[in-house]
Amino acid sequence: MRFRSLTLLTSLAALGAANPALAADRECAQSPDKLIELCVFVKEGQAFYEVNRKGAAVLAPGALGLEFKGEAPVRYTAIKGARRAASDTSWEQPWGEQRLIRDNHTELTVTLAGDTPLNANVDVTFRLFNDGIGFRYAYSAVPAGREVAVVAERTQFRPVGPQVAWWYQAQGEERDEYLYTKTDARRITTAETPLTLKGENGLHLSIHEAALVDFPSMLLSGDGAGTLTAKLMPWPDGVLARKMGPFTTPWRTVLIGESAAALADSRITLNLNEPNKLGDVSWFRPGKYVGIWWEMHLNKSTWGSGPIHGANNANVKRYMDFAARYGFTGVLVEGWNKGWDGDWIANGDQFSFTESYPDFDLPALAAYGKEKGAGLIGHHETAGAVVNYEKQLEDAMALYRKVGVDRVKTGYVKHSGTILDETGGQQWFAGQYMVRHHLKVVETAARNRIAVNTHEPVKDTGLRRTWPNWVSREGARGQEFNAWGKPTNPPEHVTILPFTRLLAGPMDYTPGIFDIVHGKDKIEARVQSTLATQLALYVVLYSPVQMAADLPENYEARPDAFQFIRDVAADWETSRTLQAEVGDYVVVARQPRGGKDWFLGAVTDEEARKLTQTLDFLTPGKRYEAQIYADGAGADYRTNPTALKVEKRVVTSKDSLALDMASGGGVAVRFRAL
Ligand code: NOJ
Ligand code: CA
Repeated sequence: MRFRSLTLLTSLAALGAANPALAADRECAQSPDKLIELCVFVKEGQAFYEVNRKGAAVLAPGALGLEFKGEAPVRYTAIKGARRAASDTSWEQPWGEQRLIRDNHTELTVTLAGDTPLNANVDVTFRLFNDGIGFRYAYSAVPAGREVAVVAERTQFRPVGPQVAWWYQAQGEERDEYLYTKTDARRITTAETPLTLKGENGLHLSIHEAALVDFPSMLLSGDGAGTLTAKLMPWPDGVLARKMGPFTTPWRTVLIGESAAALADSRITLNLNEPNKLGDVSWFRPGKYVGIWWEMHLNKSTWGSGPIHGANNANVKRYMDFAARYGFTGVLVEGWNKGWDGDWIANGDQFSFTESYPDFDLPALAAYGKEKGAGLIGHHETAGAVVNYEKQLEDAMALYRKVGVDRVKTGYVKHSGTILDETGGQQWFAGQYMVRHHLKVVETAARNRIAVNTHEPVKDTGLRRTWPNWVSREGARGQEFNAWGKPTNPPEHVTILPFTRLLAGPMDYTPGIFDIVHGKDKIEARVQSTLATQLALYVVLYSPVQMAADLPENYEARPDAFQFIRDVAADWETSRTLQAEVGDYVVVARQPRGGKDWFLGAVTDEEARKLTQTLDFLTPGKRYEAQIYADGAGADYRTNPTALKVEKRVVTSKDSLALDMASGGGVAVRFRAL
């Protein structure tokens, strides 16, 4: 696809431009449809913002600002200026869950006067959308060229009224690879974002950030009473961020919606990122891929060398032939390069990113895949040895470019907080050091026309808009946990992800395991879903690179189910979340880009559920053949996970569909335009 920036309507208007002298004690702004109102004020030396929706308080006054090393905590004395603007534009994604994105917002920038030199002029820019807000700080009083150290962020989020939250304890060893718990929000200790909350009144909030560049990742600390304060992942010396003046922070965001579905369909995170810096990225084509991967997680082959080395020429060709036969555009091969033998997690500095094992012929296999239309997908597991990786980065990407590999999966398997930097300092997986590292990788890849899919990443904050070669990430418990997790992912996991992890951006979950039991007796040791759910995940969990993760023979054993994976798209004109309750169920519909069909995916938790879904998203007056892949008679993720019923029926937008889901079940539908 060709990237075009399409502006449908632009009306950037200075609505009452700032006259600093007229700045009031309290400045307010409303979202374009006036649903959301935000006010800023200074009181007793502190600056606060508060948010209402439909006249009801949503966020109580929360503190604003940063503190710097070498300065006393700032006291803000006044709002010394306010500027307003509004904008309603649309832009086009080169690939994505939605082609055209509308960015309709109002903007209020206040200048806070502080009593310390670095805080003398702090601009806080708020953007108000109809479905939430974002704000960021600009520190214009920090002199150009001077490095300053941020030692605290004061930003608070103070949801009004009782809330439940879906979260896990942040700063654990396994980064973001934890199961979510649902608790009263007052029980939050430290949480990762997106942090999703539901109020007693049904209002849903999700707190996150956008455009995380050269700054540490933001966590949220609870105080036991419901106030959440920004907590930045520190450098080894305790400094949170090192910045050259003047500087601007990432956006702090709060999605506000009446339903879980509204959160999932919000585009605020993308809208708060800068436009595409790479220009034409048509060399990246979204698509489905297979790989020498699951067999390693099942211990059927190894990453390291030896008698069952997975990345051998014959095996790669077998996967490439399979991929070409069934329309997959890529074959991921892990364990191709030297460094996997022994304890690779401890010895990440042994990885070579240019030297293959002798039984893996990189140029020949890349050429073989290219000729078949199922290109080799590269793999760079760093085991968190980023110094070693950065040393080889240019050569590694240049090598891939030379042989024609245009996609790479990266990985950082290492306990968070133990990633060694150049000076031997121990870094968190998402502090400023690693935020810089990941962007360096993505920029180096971009220069070589390579798309990056990061595992064990820094969380997504919408940077795919600016660097559209950063196509996907893991960043949560993915399918791999269903091979060896203790326990594997329970059914509700995939009903939580769309409203937590995936609010940040695409996830390489790697769906499509057909051999659900994979030889394990215990339910907590195998895939905890039905076969229909595995199909539905291709629609429910968005990624422009979507893996068919199981072994070729398992697909060939179930041609009935496999047909859905062959048919489903990976790039979308539009996406809509139709019904959902976080942790219970979700129904998503997507229309492929450049196509007239629609796809629907629905999944439930451990509770069997019958939902009625109106089909009014289909084009009125058109007829569709609904190809329905549903849980078969007696299906149950514990006792009968692979019972599948495939049915065809002609439908129109006036019809409804009964989504009859077994325990741990789901439904996948292709609506083929007739
Ligand atoms: C963890 C990744 O999530 C997984 O996909 C990969 O196979 C292993 N690391 C090895 O790189
Ligand atoms: Ca992982």
